Amino acid sequence: MMGKVYLIGAGPGAADLITLRGAEILKRAGVVFYDALVHPDTLALAPQARLVAVGKRCSRISTDQRFINRNLVEAAAKYTVVVRLKGGDPMLFGRAQEEIEALAAAGVACEVVPGVTSALAASAEIGVSLTRRGVSRSVTFATPRVGEGEDTSDWAPSVASADTAVLYMAAGQAAEIARVLEGQGMSPATPVIIVESASLPGVRQIGTTLRGLAENTDLQIHGPALLFFGEVYRERARALIAAALLEEEVADELPQRRALPR
Ligand SMILES: C[S@@+](CC[C@H](N)C(=O)[O-])C[C@H]1O[C@@H](n2cnc3c(N)ncnc32)[C@H](O)[C@@H]1O
Repeated sequence: MMGKVYLIGAGPGAADLITLRGAEILKRAGVVFYDALVHPDTLALAPQARLVAVGKRCSRISTDQRFINRNLVEAAAKYTVVVRLKGGDPMLFGRAQEEIEALAAAGVACEVVPGVTSALAASAEIGVSLTRRGVSRSVTFATPRVGEGEDTSDWAPSVASADTAVLYMAAGQAAEIARVLEGQGMSPATPVIIVESASLPGVRQIGTTLRGLAENTDLQIHGPALLFFGEVYRERARALIAAALLEEEVADELPQRRALPR
């Protein structure tokens, strides 16, 4: 008897953002192959399972996709419930298709359990709807990232033409991306928000404009991050820019304040 492989979306990070269905399957899992961005609290939902890290984190060591596919097929021969736990939703920038096809080719049953993709969790943090009546009727999820050996991607036109756009795996090249989008005719005044570590304790939002993004080559982002573009962010970006300026002013004044006699 072959086991079944579940591709489960772990959500954006916070352990309570996994679905009830995903959590229930984790409780029964014999083995869990998990991504680098899966939080330890989420793994704790499978205390009985063998945990195997097959992490993928930009520019850090990652496990080869063919190795993951082979492991999933082999695990199905040993365990009744095999879980492939992916950050966010498995069907968005998660290489789910390769795993689904490898499992189908080996005759292994597979089921996908959706998760909260990071763009939706980050939108909740920003507190601004991706769509808005009369302002935004189209949303693009895109990435400029191309894997090794892949053809170049024409990601920019769809981002430049969407009312609202979210870029995954892009924060490391943000300035270059902004220049490409300006070249596509996107206004330099387009509001931009960067959300780092959505749903996690270190969550951070940065407000800017497309021109601001092009000029800032050192964003100091260390966690996973998304770039949001669009008119819907005008107010929020303005408030974030004002708050950051105020913080800078206070920081500049602090040493003088400390130096003042009491
Ligand atoms: C390989 S993609 C996986 C996306 C995932 N399948 C999803 O639905 O969110 C990894 C990228 O997702 C984004 N990401 C994942 N978790 C995030 C978080 N908690 N906050 C912000 N961005 C996140 C970042 O752009 C990161 O580089």
